[in-house]
Amino acid sequence: MLWRGLLEEYKAYLPVNEKTPMLSLQEGNTPLLPMKHLSEKLGVELFVKYDGANPTGSFKDRGMVMAVAKAKESGSEAIMCASTGNTSAAAAAYAAQAKMRCLVVIPDGKIAMGKLAQAVVYGAEIVSIEGNFDNALQMVRNLEKQTPISLVNSVNPYRIEGQKTSAFEICDALGSAPDILTIPVGNAGNITAYWKGFKEYHEAKKTGLPQMRGFEAEGSAAIVRNEIIDQPETVATAIRIGNPASWDKAVNAADESHGKIDMVTDEEIIEAYKLLAREEGVFAEPASAASIAGLIKQIESGEIKKGSRVVSVLTGNGLKDPNTAIDTALIQPTKLPNEEQVVFDHLLGRVKA
Ligand code: F0G
Repeated sequence: MLWRGLLEEYKAYLPVNEKTPMLSLQEGNTPLLPMKHLSEKLGVELFVKYDGANPTGSFKDRGMVMAVAKAKESGSEAIMCASTGNTSAAAAAYAAQAKMRCLVVIPDGKIAMGKLAQAVVYGAEIVSIEGNFDNALQMVRNLEKQTPISLVNSVNPYRIEGQKTSAFEICDALGSAPDILTIPVGNAGNITAYWKGFKEYHEAKKTGLPQMRGFEAEGSAAIVRNEIIDQPETVATAIRIGNPASWDKAVNAADESHGKIDMVTDEEIIEAYKLLAREEGVFAEPASAASIAGLIKQIESGEIKKGSRVVSVLTGNGLKDPNTAIDTALIQPTKLPNEEQVVFDHLLGRVKA
């Protein structure tokens, strides 16, 4: 049967009524991929929730379809967001479908190329500030108080409602919640949404609850360090955030579920990023790989027990950030003349060696 998108498929669990415009780019229903090789290597039963398969290439579509639908329903004519890239791409796409204006504030130079390309092509009005995500978010939160423009960052509760559906899909695919969920943490909306989703599904269907294990990047690990970071830095620009808006909710999800908010270094992130691609043929963006880096770290530390059933959330598609892929690649294309024999000699020489 044709997948109808999240609002239709999960309306029993979402704030959808007869006035809600049923927007859809057929978001959701993303693959839960068993990681055969990594499971063997790591000694756990590992699946990844590949949310990079959403229509704009990230999990943001889940929250955005709900938030934009509710903004439209309320009579709003424009939406706005601060973004490290993916939120703006999703906001711009759903605004296009809903025929609304989309205003975006981004940190200059710290947006992966693919994400900026999306916001531009979908027709967002983009302001790039000489500041970071936290500064941009503060600006749009202040502007929200003065205008009827709907704010669609994850401080908007409808975003959380939409994003919780990923937990439902995981429980449906596995028959129950996994033992452990590992997930990147930036502004901390997604870990908040997953925990809400697992709890609601458990209430409705007795699917059980996972330990929530969230991972910040070391250079922007505000929650782990328990202090606001004024100059957050990380190769994983999606989670380059020093003052997460849902800080308390992330801590609560970790505490209630007997999990933990932890951090991983940029080196660990890039290593996990390459491992996923080389071992399993799965290309996720660097921020997403924080969930795999964290899994590896906590298996080594003994915090995650061998034999556990683990789902790691891959929040965004690797194609979002082609520059990091090329910059961190060990293999570069070999340039040769347009001569068959030269190319054959090279290729066969490589094969023999
Ligand atoms: N992974 C990716 C690919 C993201 O884009 C983000 C956040 C996260 C993880 C972290 O999720 O903020 O809910 O903890 N991106 C936001 C944006 C901030 O603007 O696109 P979170």
